[in-house]
Amino acid sequence: MSEAKREQWSSRLVFILAATGSAVGLGNIWKFPYITGENGGGAFVLIYLCCIAAIGIPIMMAEIMLGRRGRHDPVTTMQNLAKESGHSRSWGLLGWMGVIAGFLILSYYSVIAGWAMAYVPKMALGAFNALDAKAVDNIFNTLVGNPWLLIVWHSLFLFLTMIVVARGVHGGLEKAVTYLMPMLFVLLLILLVYAMDSGYFLQGVSYLFNPDFSKITTEGVLTAMGHAFFTLSLGMGAIMVYGSYLPAHTSIAQASIVVAFMDTLVALLAGMIIFPVVFANGLEAGAGPGLIFKTLPLAFSHMNYGTFFGTLFFILIVFAAWTSSISLIEPAITWAMNNFNISRMKASIVAGVLVWFTGLLTVFSFNLASDFTISSTISTHYGEFVILKDATAFDLLDYLTANIMLPLGGLMIAIYAGWLMKQEYSRQELNISHFWYTIWTVLVRYIAPAMVIVVFLNAMGIVAFVRNVIG
Ligand code: TRP
Repeated sequence: MSEAKREQWSSRLVFILAATGSAVGLGNIWKFPYITGENGGGAFVLIYLCCIAAIGIPIMMAEIMLGRRGRHDPVTTMQNLAKESGHSRSWGLLGWMGVIAGFLILSYYSVIAGWAMAYVPKMALGAFNALDAKAVDNIFNTLVGNPWLLIVWHSLFLFLTMIVVARGVHGGLEKAVTYLMPMLFVLLLILLVYAMDSGYFLQGVSYLFNPDFSKITTEGVLTAMGHAFFTLSLGMGAIMVYGSYLPAHTSIAQASIVVAFMDTLVALLAGMIIFPVVFANGLEAGAGPGLIFKTLPLAFSHMNYGTFFGTLFFILIVFAAWTSSISLIEPAITWAMNNFNISRMKASIVAGVLVWFTGLLTVFSFNLASDFTISSTISTHYGEFVILKDATAFDLLDYLTANIMLPLGGLMIAIYAGWLMKQEYSRQELNISHFWYTIWTVLVRYIAPAMVIVVFLNAMGIVAFVRNVIG
């Protein structure tokens, strides 16, 4: 392994910033609020938090550890590690699935980030001033109804992402995160003060933290688990690649806990900002992917300095998305560089073009092809079991990546790290006390895999299906 030549983060802080930059993104600010709203609030949030603690943190440790030990792109890392411990090279497939998952996620991520970008000039020019809910709804619908406009913003966002990626770890990633992450925190805190002042803060908080389990469904549980992977950037090799740039003596456990904590904090902050605003304006919590785009401008338009804070908020979202999108494509880039022996620049251009075309599927899901949907149900004695309902290409991509590929990748990482890797190696890499090592081992060996498998079987209707066959 060409360890000497490989780039490394210049400090532990930079690694933590980069990993947090990857974790904190549209998942926290756009997706978390809208899936929480769709799944009824508190109970969903509680399940999500349990998944972060019991699955997310141990698997993040495992993924960083594999990355640092392998010191390569995810495919080569898994092949080398498997060889080192005498297992099949087909573990490289795990890396492969990650490269593909990251690629697919970026294709829609870039389109949604494009919406946020489109909102920046709109907010700044006062397009939402003094409008009612219907008018704001109209602006959103007009935007997503226009494929050309979406393509322009998608192209711009993707271009920004690929520029940073093309410049590499030191030139690009580090600079981007060192400035962007702290700014993001400050902006969120400012907005929180606004939300506290809205008169509906307690209602919003109670919606988030008061669990009502009657509102949760099997799909809701799968969504919560899938989101734990999505929001922590786990299961596809992104964190593995970041880990591969990690200097040898940095504590993996500490870094994982800090990253998971900050990511969760941002999601909960976003929720505590968005739901009071939703309730203060009598808006619909379950509005779907348009939630923050349909509700927030309305709120901003009614507050003092709303134009200013609204503009800041959407800039913040774009920044957060930017530092995440970089990590979605980094595994594919390092893999292409190693495998085809091409430059970072060339790999970035090719990847950018491919992602751009794939992104058109999402672009058209909201306009030209919005009626082009599929549904999938299993009928059992216990009634209809809905897996997908009127899913557009975007819904399908989201379901396939977040709910299936990431948990599956995470499951394989847990199994590899917990069962197949020599304990001598994992002990050495993690370098934690015997007590914590034992806890980690129990989590990656038993708890995390069992949870993923049970949730999977349930949500894919397999439990219902089996019951039906037996019954
Ligand atoms: N975690 C990011 C978010 O919440 C998205 C993301 C970046 C991601 N890199 C990833 C998701 C790798 C899964 C895997 O917006």
